[in-house]
Amino acid sequence: MTIRKSALQLLLALASLAASTAALAQAGAPAAAAASAVTANSAAAAASVPARAGMGTEYSAKGADTCLGCHDDESPGYSAKALFKGKHAHRGDKRSPFGAGGLQCEACHGPGAAHSAKGSKKNLTTNSFKADSFLTVDERNQPCLGCHQDPSRNAWHGGAHDRSKVSCADCHRMHVDRDPVLVKATQPGVCLSCHIKQRADFQKPSAHPLRNGAMGCSDCHNAHGASGPAMLNKPTLNQTCLSCHTDKRGPVLWEHAPVAEDCSLCHTSHGSVRAALLTKSPPLLCQQCHSSAGHPSLPRTGASLPAGGAGGSVFLVAGSCTNCHSQVHGSNHPAGAKLMR
Ligand code: HEC
Ligand code: HEC
Ligand code: HEC
Ligand code: HEC
Ligand code: HEC
Ligand code: HEC
Ligand code: HEC
Ligand code: HEC
Ligand code: HEC
Ligand code: HEC
Repeated sequence: MTIRKSALQLLLALASLAASTAALAQAGAPAAAAASAVTANSAAAAASVPARAGMGTEYSAKGADTCLGCHDDESPGYSAKALFKGKHAHRGDKRSPFGAGGLQCEACHGPGAAHSAKGSKKNLTTNSFKADSFLTVDERNQPCLGCHQDPSRNAWHGGAHDRSKVSCADCHRMHVDRDPVLVKATQPGVCLSCHIKQRADFQKPSAHPLRNGAMGCSDCHNAHGASGPAMLNKPTLNQTCLSCHTDKRGPVLWEHAPVAEDCSLCHTSHGSVRAALLTKSPPLLCQQCHSSAGHPSLPRTGASLPAGGAGGSVFLVAGSCTNCHSQVHGSNHPAGAKLMR
């Protein structure tokens, strides 16, 4: 209830703000004068808003109030009130669309005079951010990038999503109470709507705990792009894993070479049908690199060979390497050279 009230107060405050703009307009001030009052930030954003087709370059006379005159409705995907609860409507923040001198709705949707005019083609005169828009993905993203160029968080250009022409609005929602992609519990739903293979992976018996909302994709990935492989948060795969699994970082007295090299030599990152996210189960996992020939625990007779009649060593067929070599990630025991303690 309180939230609703404050949203209404904002709307009311906005109405009075627009009234003074209207007075200006009545006094004969050209539209350009109103536009020149914007802050440096909004001006930069405005300059980057594409003027395409019937869109024109003129802003509406009364800013948000012009728009709200027709768009004050609520639907599952759109709510004007929701926008006013978020950071974009923060009037005390001069960087925000609704900060002092900001272009309000038009900071994102582009100049709206033509769109607001009677009889104009509504879907050809505004940046709808939708996939069926007359604007290209780059053009749709421009207003957002005009304000969000923080390189440490937003190495967007050249990332897999930029290269594949994924748009900001494919992941972000502006007109809902809570942008689902910013909340851990709902974020995977956004990503998995496109990444179908990964959806299946996370359903497997052993998986990182995304299903119950304990983790999000963004715990490992930077969706905006990153210099490392697979847009991981850290420059390498191991650094990403070790940021949480610190006990595997070492240094250890007896290192197991593949662990320091690359966790994914043995583990998948998303999900696996085998225990502990393993790519294969031991002994097969280990035998990719280690030959059983000459293993000290094998009785070296012909019978221990697979075709020797005894069906191979009981240790290797029924048991597993990790029954004896339990310290697969390395050992700190003085006598742990063979990773057994
Ligand atoms: C005279 C009424 C009117 C005004 C004023 C108006 N719009 Fe619209 N707008 C419409 C209609 C009608 C549609 C098309 C039907 C619909 O989807 O609601 C539309 C559609 C839109 C769309 C979706 C376009 C699409 O391709 O799906 C956006 C975004 C939009 N308007 C933003 C704005 C903004 C921002 C302003 C203020 C600058 C504004 N509108 C002012 C009537 C108006
Ligand atoms: C006029 C400048 C401006 C424009 C245009 C703009 N933003 Fe923002 N945005 C901001 C500011 C300011 C904040 C608040 C930043 C902060 O608090 O650190 C913000 C915050 C955000 C946040 C974080 C919200 C949260 O609740 O934490 C997201 C996500 C975001 N913007 C995405 C977008 C997208 C997507 C677009 C284009 C559709 C866009 N922005 C357009 C200025 C802008
Ligand atoms: C593939 C999905 C995806 C796309 C596309 C995307 N984002 Fe994001 N964005 C995210 C996720 C996930 C987060 C939350 C990151 C986190 O929690 O570490 C986020 C966070 C943000 C934030 C808040 C950052 C912060 O740390 O406060 C801003 C601002 C933002 N995005 C802007 C943009 C802009 C601008 C674009 C388009 C150029 C864009 N995003 C495209 C997924 C996406
Ligand atoms: C920070 C950028 C931003 C601001 C500011 C903004 N919008 Fe939007 N708007 C979007 C994005 C992105 C979409 C695409 C749908 C979504 O993300 O929710 C959108 C969608 C819309 C739609 C189409 C909804 C539909 O489902 O057909 C309308 C209408 C609209 N906005 C009107 C407005 C009005 C009116 C204002 C000012 C009160 C406004 N917008 C301010 C970014 C913005
Ligand atoms: C609108 C569809 C769409 C959404 C939503 C989406 N992606 Fe993507 N993503 C793609 C496309 C297209 C590619 C490039 C082709 C590919 O590698 O599959 C891609 C690639 C990737 C890659 C591979 C990067 C590389 O360098 O190989 C990662 C990681 C990724 N996305 C993570 C995410 C995360 C995390 C989210 C949610 C925050 C997300 N994606 C949301 C479409 C999407
Ligand atoms: C525990 C960390 C982690 C989490 C959580 C995670 N990923 Fe990944 N992801 C990785 C790693 C590491 C790779 C690199 C692939 C590899 O070599 O195993 C990767 C690769 C990818 C790729 C590239 C294609 C591929 O499979 O190699 C996509 C797409 C992807 N992840 C999407 C997602 C999505 C979507 C989510 C959330 C639903 C997610 N990831 C959650 C670590 C993670
Ligand atoms: C953001 C923190 C985080 C990151 C980064 C991370 N993990 Fe995890 N990992 C977890 C959590 C939480 C669990 C679940 C622990 C539990 O259930 O007790 C887990 C579980 C595991 C398990 C045991 C799974 C099982 O079924 O027993 C393995 C193996 C694992 N992670 C490997 C990795 C690898 C490899 C990487 C890098 C690609 C990685 N993790 C990155 C948090 C993380
Ligand atoms: C040589 C193969 C191999 C490599 C490389 C490897 N692991 Fe493992 N890991 C295993 C095996 C096998 C298990 C199951 C252990 C068991 O059954 O006792 C396991 C279990 C785990 C577990 C769950 C049990 C536990 O000990 O907490 C985590 C977490 C884990 N590994 C993280 C990592 C990380 C992080 C890396 C990279 C730094 C890594 N592993 C590299 C083979 C490997
Ligand atoms: C990706 C290849 C690879 C995989 C998979 C692998 N290892 Fe290793 N392992 C190595 C390498 C390389 C060494 C170091 C060999 C050396 O220093 O001569 C090593 C060393 C060892 C040693 C110590 C040998 C010594 O002489 O000190 C043991 C024991 C061992 N591995 C057991 C295992 C077990 C058990 C598994 C399965 C859980 C496994 N390895 C999986 C590559 C691998
Ligand atoms: C019954 C216990 C046992 C099992 C099961 C076992 N090992 Fe061993 N392993 C040993 C012993 C004992 C040594 C010798 C230790 C020493 O020399 O100090 C050894 C040594 C090794 C060495 C080092 C060889 C060398 O020449 O120094 C490797 C590599 C190795 N094992 C891998 C494996 C792999 C891979 C498996 C599964 C296919 C496996 N072990 C199963 C007990 C076992």
